[in-house]
Amino acid sequence: MGSLTVRNLPEGVKKRLRLRAAANGRSMEEEVRLLLAEGASEAAPAKAASATEPARRPDAAPTRSPARHILLIIAGGIAAYKSLDLIRRLRERGLAVRVVMTKAAQEFVTPMSVGAIAGEKPFTELFDQASEFDVGHIRLARDNDLVVVAPATADIMAKMANGHADDLATAVLLATDKQVLLAPAMNSRMWSNKATQRNLKVLCADGIITVGPNAGEMAESGEAGVGRMAEPLEIVAAIEKYLAGHPDAADSIDGIAKPLAGKRILITAGPTHEPIDPVRYIANRSSGKQGHAIARAAAAAGATVTLVTGPVTLPDPPGVKTVHVETARQMLQMVESALPVDIGIFAAAVADWRTADMGGQKLKKEGKAPPQLSLVENPDILARVSKLKTKRPKLVIGFAAETEKVVEHATAKLWRKGCDWILANDVSAESGVMGGDRNTIHLVTPKGVEHWPTQSKDAVADMLVARIAAALNGKPR
Ligand code: C5P
Repeated sequence: MGSLTVRNLPEGVKKRLRLRAAANGRSMEEEVRLLLAEGASEAAPAKAASATEPARRPDAAPTRSPARHILLIIAGGIAAYKSLDLIRRLRERGLAVRVVMTKAAQEFVTPMSVGAIAGEKPFTELFDQASEFDVGHIRLARDNDLVVVAPATADIMAKMANGHADDLATAVLLATDKQVLLAPAMNSRMWSNKATQRNLKVLCADGIITVGPNAGEMAESGEAGVGRMAEPLEIVAAIEKYLAGHPDAADSIDGIAKPLAGKRILITAGPTHEPIDPVRYIANRSSGKQGHAIARAAAAAGATVTLVTGPVTLPDPPGVKTVHVETARQMLQMVESALPVDIGIFAAAVADWRTADMGGQKLKKEGKAPPQLSLVENPDILARVSKLKTKRPKLVIGFAAETEKVVEHATAKLWRKGCDWILANDVSAESGVMGGDRNTIHLVTPKGVEHWPTQSKDAVADMLVARIAAALNGKPR
């Protein structure tokens, strides 16, 4: 009924209705339904908002941006069960999710469970009198900010690459004027098959973006390879990265999202070396890979980045002002001179102690007893910056490298140091994080803990950048 009413309205009224719906974070048909309900109620007329200006929900702050709408297409693969978690994660973040399911998807998860989590019935049929009348596949294709296909099977990718439209999902994909994000998921042989790779190439050339697939175990027992769907949180990060950068043209250069354009970010990375004498020093196993990856990702997202790094064997990240230091005290000095910034990320494994002055000459054995190293405490750079009165960055992020009770210790550190977020990770020898290429992060904030999947340090950096962009745009966490 909503669509019939909207279709018959004069263009000017339709435009105002569209504005009003957007301001309230609702779809046009939801807005029409609400107006009709209000109109029918006795008490409603006095409260009804003027149709000439966009109305806001009474609890909405005047500057609150309207909810973003995701159209999620679930195709038929075993990874479809993860889409339930994806819907939940998206809704947690205040995103409105509407779902289309293919026939095959319904063999893996039921429309009832999807509907229960999404908060509305999923759409399944192309020729369904009721839903075509109410919403219609063209509206489904267009009333959203992003179309996500998760899982994207080899079959749906082949259909998309060839422009098929023989069911609701493919018709919507052909009709949409919005960005499409695919989260491919299939057996590794199907993924590496020349036909799939050819279709992927076509889709990428058509402007479609992808997240995953990841390497790992396949659903088929004993098989492993590339083809696992990206984890829900990785897909959420890709969605947030896209939404943070679009559709504001100012944030997008040459079609590449620049969600941190105009932001100044300071990052510390690597170990510090604390001299014992002119040739010996105390150090730790930090490689600097995570901090450097964050600097690269932040620069790629358009931020102006200063990286203060301890001694590492990595090249300076492109487009980043990189300052090399040795000791904690030098690091503090360079950090202070880089302020003010909008965001501070303290990924360095700063030595907690340095040796008390051992004099300017190399210590000699010369038959003497071993020298006693006397240690004094280094300045805590993160705590100092967090507690600054005037130049404190708006967002201060620390790391907590722990070998036990990771979240518990990180939470204590968040409060003790006064920072806003802590990225906690397990650096016990078994984890392989120190010096390795992968990391498992637990994001601790005053609102709670979020467990990120184990992923490459580059993927952690991308996810953090997406989180920061979302936070700066007033999104949760
Ligand atoms: O070493 P610790 O676990 O206390 O490190 C937690 C956080 O504090 C990290 O973000 C680290 O970069 C920062 N830190 C610092 N200066 C120190 C010690 C730690 O900035 N002296």
